[in-house]
Amino acid sequence: MKKIIISNWKLNGNINFINKYIKKIKIYLKNSNYKISIAPPIIYLYYMSKLLKKNKYISLTSQNTDIHINGAYTGETSINMIKDINVKYVIIGHSERKKYHYENNKNILKKIILTKKKNIIPILCIGENIKEYKKNKSIEICKKQINYIIKKKNIKILENIIIAYEPIWSIGTGKNANIDHINKIHNSIKKYIYSLNKKIYNKFKIIYGGSVNYKNFKDIISQKNVDGLLIGNSSLNIKEFINIINN
Ligand code: 13P
Repeated sequence: MKKIIISNWKLNGNINFINKYIKKIKIYLKNSNYKISIAPPIIYLYYMSKLLKKNKYISLTSQNTDIHINGAYTGETSINMIKDINVKYVIIGHSERKKYHYENNKNILKKIILTKKKNIIPILCIGENIKEYKKNKSIEICKKQINYIIKKKNIKILENIIIAYEPIWSIGTGKNANIDHINKIHNSIKKYIYSLNKKIYNKFKIIYGGSVNYKNFKDIISQKNVDGLLIGNSSLNIKEFINIINN
């Protein structure tokens, strides 16, 4: 099974950039060892879906979805709208959304439920901050974030979802977590899920995000317990992203 690489553009890009980006990376998609997905700003999803014309070697990811389906919620995008344009994944609970948009556990859970209902795969972001990391609390914090979701529903909520371990202190800082740390966290989350339900264990994935670049990506993605990568900054550099997907 191919591992997945998701390019999260955050609040970057425009039509010009998209045209250039797709034209350049298109050549490398078919022979890539990875499944590739792109998360442009939501406003460009439709344009990109037309541009890619259902190219089977690449998929689209939404950076967010709203907790409502429709109604008077100015500025939001519902999961039905996202479904309309053939999006495969939705990033939910990114630490930047928690920080700048006050996203909380309750909303994260609602978004996961709505996304799953539409047969779109949620990518649930978890991860500790620098203080917690220094106090050796990474595992505890990650489990707590997962437990909230499980306890409010049940373990089945994790079926077919992707968990993205993104230590907050590593995002956009140039300091990726070291391999031992990544392995430790991914292992303990996998073991934890296994202890709760063996069936679900076989049906969820865990990927890593945080200062991944063309120099360190290979080491990280080749770990047995790393099912893929979520890349921000480096995925915006076309040359660098090609280096990654073409390796
Ligand atoms: P960077 O790769 O820029 O650290 O961002 C990671 C991230 O937040 C992906 O969602």
